[in-house]
Amino acid sequence: MFNSTNIDKNTLLERAYNLRWAALPKDVIPLTAADLDFPCATEIYEAINRYAEKRYFNYGPAEGLPFFKESMASFFSRKRKLEINPENILPVDSAAFGIYLTCKTFLLPGDEAIIFDPVDFLFRYSIETVGATAVSFAIPPGTDVVDFNSMEELINSKTKLICLCNPLNPTGKVFTKAELEQLAAIAEKHNLIILSDEIWSDIVFAPYEYVSMASLNKTISDRTVIVTGFSKSYGLAGLRMGIVATTNNAFFNQLFQASLHQSTIHGSNVISQVAATAALDECDQWLQQFLSHLQNMRDLCVQSINQIKGFSCIAPDGCYVAFANIDNTGMTSKEMHQLLMQEAKVAVVPGLKEWFGPGAEGHIRFSFATSEDILKEAFLRINQTISNR
Ligand SMILES: Cc1ncc(COP(=O)(O)O)c(C=O)c1O
Repeated sequence: MFNSTNIDKNTLLERAYNLRWAALPKDVIPLTAADLDFPCATEIYEAINRYAEKRYFNYGPAEGLPFFKESMASFFSRKRKLEINPENILPVDSAAFGIYLTCKTFLLPGDEAIIFDPVDFLFRYSIETVGATAVSFAIPPGTDVVDFNSMEELINSKTKLICLCNPLNPTGKVFTKAELEQLAAIAEKHNLIILSDEIWSDIVFAPYEYVSMASLNKTISDRTVIVTGFSKSYGLAGLRMGIVATTNNAFFNQLFQASLHQSTIHGSNVISQVAATAALDECDQWLQQFLSHLQNMRDLCVQSINQIKGFSCIAPDGCYVAFANIDNTGMTSKEMHQLLMQEAKVAVVPGLKEWFGPGAEGHIRFSFATSEDILKEAFLRINQTISNR
């Protein structure tokens, strides 16, 4: 199912934007934005078709479709050891919007929020958009165990929020229960809210296991807002579908008010909720097969990177991105990005501050949610380009 014969390149060239096939010259292999080259599960397509057949696309409920909320609650109970009332789950139009909504709800101008460094740009972007300041806590690539005690130095009376990205994009770190407990204790001690971005939580490679922050205990759950989505696990990025959820009723009411869903200004598309319901209820087997393909691609990717002169890469525990160190090439990430783009015709994401924070320099990021053939071709081209320098 996850090989080149199942990749429809012509359709990707028409539809896959965001630094990928449709946004780049035709001969470039885009290992850029973490988005799949594979079509979604047939179960999702069939669910959308069944819904569309009736040709009614009326307004849905402001708080989201009940069957979707039930499925999401059942997912948390079955897979994340977390009991959450379906009423406290709000579908939103992407995890990206969920991050922004959480920042808009809980941060005032002048407040501070802690983010990891490196981490996806969305956290800093959302914090700064609402007039607050993002304060970086360094978790260098390859960090085995994080000592969160040193985070306390960054906390002051303006600090309101800790942004936990677990698994951590771009380094692929999956936090252990012990690490989460330490972080939870700090949040408790300083009365901070935790934004737990769990969008990568299905993409965790054995022997690592995902633990959801809110599953630790009721106290920490009540100070956590979970944000997750369907772009990474199920290839539904274009449907712009995510959720915010919390066991804390007061938090939920604040999030709902801030969402403007009640006023019909924002809100999640009904088709996206139907698709997400099918993903949660019917696609476990598809996801299992996707994960086992990804584990092979992770190994191929890391092995290939480590064979390139001046490159090195530690295998990620989760996420389908490999974060390669290129310090020994003597080039910056921007220069390497340009060289690979122009000569190897392979696009990667450079470790620039604006993408991942200052801690990302000296690295480039490869997405490996594609086929073995495409990855092999990409690394062949990169190897030739670097060997010829
Ligand atoms: C950590 C993290 N959060 C959120 C998102 C955005 O997800 P969505 O497509 O649902 O907006 C991404 C996408 O790469 C991500 O890596």
